[in-house]
Amino acid sequence: MAQEVSNGNHNSSAKPPPTPSPLRFSKFFQSNMRILVTGGAGFIGSHLVDKLMENEKNEVIVVDNYFTGSKDNLKKWIGHPRFELIRHDVTEPLLIEVDQIYHLACPASPIFYKYNPVKTIKTNVIGTLNMLGLAKRVGARKKATWGNVNPIGVRSCYDEGKRVAETLMFDYHRQHGIEIRIARIFNTYGPRMNIDDGRVVSNFIAQAIRGEPLTVQAPGTQTRSFCYVSDMVNGLIRLMEGENTGPINIGNPGEFTMLELAENVKELINPNVEIVMVENTPDDPRQRKPDITKAKELLGWEPKIKLRDGLPLMEEDFRLRLGVPGKN
Ligand SMILES: NC(=O)c1ccc[n+]([C@@H]2O[C@H](COP(=O)([O-])OP(=O)(O)OC[C@H]3O[C@@H](n4cnc5c(N)ncnc54)[C@H](O)[C@@H]3O)[C@@H](O)[C@H]2O)c1
Repeated sequence: MAQEVSNGNHNSSAKPPPTPSPLRFSKFFQSNMRILVTGGAGFIGSHLVDKLMENEKNEVIVVDNYFTGSKDNLKKWIGHPRFELIRHDVTEPLLIEVDQIYHLACPASPIFYKYNPVKTIKTNVIGTLNMLGLAKRVGARKKATWGNVNPIGVRSCYDEGKRVAETLMFDYHRQHGIEIRIARIFNTYGPRMNIDDGRVVSNFIAQAIRGEPLTVQAPGTQTRSFCYVSDMVNGLIRLMEGENTGPINIGNPGEFTMLELAENVKELINPNVEIVMVENTPDDPRQRKPDITKAKELLGWEPKIKLRDGLPLMEEDFRLRLGVPGKN
């Protein structure tokens, strides 16, 4: 991607933004801001919904096909007058009136996105086209999507899908004046992550709670950076509310080797478990660490929760879902 694009500073467009749909001003609209969250029944989406619902001026609509998400993640909002949940696949068009769209629908874990690669690409490409079409039709004020890209291999259904989604976002922005925001989300962790989704934090925590050995993929010196979900949600909202289109990296630059992560989980959750080394997958990156200079400068955002503080916040939720009662 061109240098120019990665500076997160694209706030001009060839065309002025489309005017909001006249329906938007009808007397039936009670709230000040109607916000659509696609993939809102998923891990990050449901935390985003919790945060958006704190503001009484927001009305939140979630669309989700429950491929990896669950109604359970939203149960406290079901029946709330400012909340609506729609079973819908984003690869099909959607006609509703909204002001902002957070487009998160896409399986995030390799286990799930490799399960049906064609569907993953469709979700990224057709799903994004449908959401941009919706934004264009109703004059939605902003839109956001994300993904940290990597061009080849069995992960391409995900990575390339995200790249095309970013291209589409900018084309709609330049050609139709749609207001866009693009976040590049880096590894995120917290309560409601899918258990057994093959991602390292959920793996280790589930293993520690079950009293099983923590399986570190060799050599264990590969690093990852982990952003606690509340920090992620704050970053996404900050981006949406600001004036920069992005792409902007949102993540936590604190870097940990997989061995260090296992040691932390062992110490904090279950000191009795062993740490064992297992074979790695062929396409495992050696390092992944976001440069968040732009997020700091342009959004005034940086993560606050340290890994050692965030990991214990997952324990209760995982114990409940695994049916393994706490230590006390
Ligand atoms: N969690 C991370 O560490 C991470 C890292 C990078 C990018 N992301 C991106 O953030 C977004 C959310 O990730 P997450 O961790 O919450 O994942 P998740 O799997 O928990 O949530 C994704 C949600 O999208 C829904 N969904 C999938 N395909 C759909 C479709 N065709 N139509 C409607 N709904 C659909 C799923 O049912 C689920 O509720 C994704 O776009 C993901 O690519 C996440």
